Order: sequence, then C-alpha cells, then structure tokens
Amino acid sequence: MAKDRIHTEITNLGDWGNIPFICPVTIITTVNKKGKVNAAIKSWITPACSTPPLLLFSCNIKHDTAKNILETREFVVNIPMLDIKEKTLITAKEYPPEVNELKEAGLTPIPTERVKPPAIEECIAHLECILEWQKQYGDEIIICGRVLSASCDRKIWEASKEEKQRILENLMITLTAGGTILK
Ligand SMILES: Cc1cc2nc3c(=O)[nH]c(=O)nc-3n(C[C@H](O)[C@H](O)[C@H](O)COP(=O)(O)O)c2cc1C
Repeated sequence: MAKDRIHTEITNLGDWGNIPFICPVTIITTVNKKGKVNAAIKSWITPACSTPPLLLFSCNIKHDTAKNILETREFVVNIPMLDIKEKTLITAKEYPPEVNELKEAGLTPIPTERVKPPAIEECIAHLECILEWQKQYGDEIIICGRVLSASCDRKIWEASKEEKQRILENLMITLTAGGTILK
C-alpha cells in the first residue's frame, strides 16, 4: 500500500518548516560603514562552489545583516556549537542597528585576516567573505560570498575521522523554518 503523504507546492515559510530539511546554524558578523558591529544567527546557508570557494545564504532584506553587506560588501560566517546555544540564540533577537549583538550575547570578537567584520572567539570555524553577487526575491536576498580566508580550531582540523565525528555531533542544526534548534 502507498504511504500516506502530504503534497505541497511550498507557498510559504510554514510549508518549508514542515519539510524535514535541516540547515546548519551559523552566526554572521558584519559591520556598517561606520564600523558598528552586527551579529545574527542565519541558517539558510550552504557551500556552493569549491573553485572559487563560494557560499550562498538567504537573508531578509530588512535585516541589518543584509543592509551591512550591501553597504560594505564583507561578512564573516562563524560556526557555533551547542556549548554556546543560548548565546547564539540571543543574536536572533531584533535589536536596533546601534546594538552590538556580540556584547548582548557575551560573545568575544576577534580580529580577522582579510575583512573588517570580527570573527567570534567561541566559534569553532570562521569564513571571511566578500560579496560576489546578490539577487533579491520579494523580501529576501540571496547573497553569494567568496571566501577569502578561513580558520578552524586546530583540534578539529587535525582530528581523525572518528574524533571529528564525535566532536561535530555538537554542531547545531535547525529545520528550514520555525527557528527551533533541533540539536
Ligand atoms: C535558528 C534560526 C535561524 C535563522 N536563520 C535565518 C536565516 O537564514 N535568514 C534570515 O534572514 N534570518 C534568519 N533568522 C532570523 C534572524 O536571526 C533574526 O531575524 C535576527 O534578528 C536578524 O538580525 P539582523 O537584523 O541583525 O540581521 C534565524 C533565526 C533563528 C532562531
């Protein structure tokens, strides 16, 4: 007998959220043209090309993250793990542009190699990007970033496959909508 299935054309965010399609949890750091730091959790993100190294993510056009990237063309993708889940979630709060979410969350900014936005000390890896291209659909903008420099905790980079598997079980994942972190 055929399985009982729901068929949908995915017409809204709620539909997306019902599909068990998981996304990684990241924190994107940016600065505006005055150098004010912004940090926000973003999970609609994926690597997209190896040579050149490109990644894609989607952002609401009204978010400070999108505004800052269009203004300064730079951003850093920071990879948090479960040990900083509560702090990571604070960066999802809608603060005014003058508020530095890193301070609110108690996360530590560290200097980057190739771009102005800081990276986050407590994260296990960082991808320093410049804006390659962008395309807007309604209220959302798809941002393609070219990775200029990346860093990773040595203990993860040099870990054996088994060790890596054990450590990375603590990565955070979420569904495509709803904002609930599954793990
Ligand atoms: C788990 C989770 C994932 C999220 N992923 C995204 C995302 O991929 N794109 C997006 O625009 N907003 C996403 N958000 C919402 C933003 O983090 C939130 O609206 C934030 O306040 C935007 O901050 P900003 O204005 O500083 O960019 C997510 C929120 C949560 C809780």
